Amino acid sequence: MTETKDRREFMMSVGIGAGLVALGAQGAAALRSLGPNVSYDPPTTVKLGMPLELPDGMKFLPEQRLFVFRSGKTFHAISAVCTHLGCTVRAEALPRPETKVVGNGELLLTHAFKCPCHGSAYSGDGVNTEGPAPTPLAWYELSIAADDGQLVVDLAKPVPHDFRLTIA
Ligand code: FES
Repeated sequence: MTETKDRREFMMSVGIGAGLVALGAQGAAALRSLGPNVSYDPPTTVKLGMPLELPDGMKFLPEQRLFVFRSGKTFHAISAVCTHLGCTVRAEALPRPETKVVGNGELLLTHAFKCPCHGSAYSGDGVNTEGPAPTPLAWYELSIAADDGQLVVDLAKPVPHDFRLTIA
């Protein structure tokens, strides 16, 4: 008799416990749905300033870990993130600029890149030439912001190495 009663009480407490867990999960989901559905990840597009205010040549942007190159009204951007384990590569000026055919166009190379962590090296167009880096440095899409004319990089949009943005 007592054993049956104990079993019944046990089964009831298991049932109540399961019900409470289900209610809690439903309540948490309902509360979550009340908040705004936004992403708190940093945006992938970043404004870099007015394009013609950038210096001619190369500028390193530490916050974006990005090299922006300007030649007159033409721009391209190369990531400073080493493709081995993600250290920030350094630009080293070449003793003499070199011209290289990159994709469908020519590129004047003024720098090469070296990674301080494990010795990877990259040519001025970002191609890996030495060390453990498995792939070239990424190039990112540049555009002009429609609202204020600033140069914009999209760090989520890699582009081929013959990408150039030329402004009017
Ligand atoms: S992180 Fe650059 S070579 Fe290892």
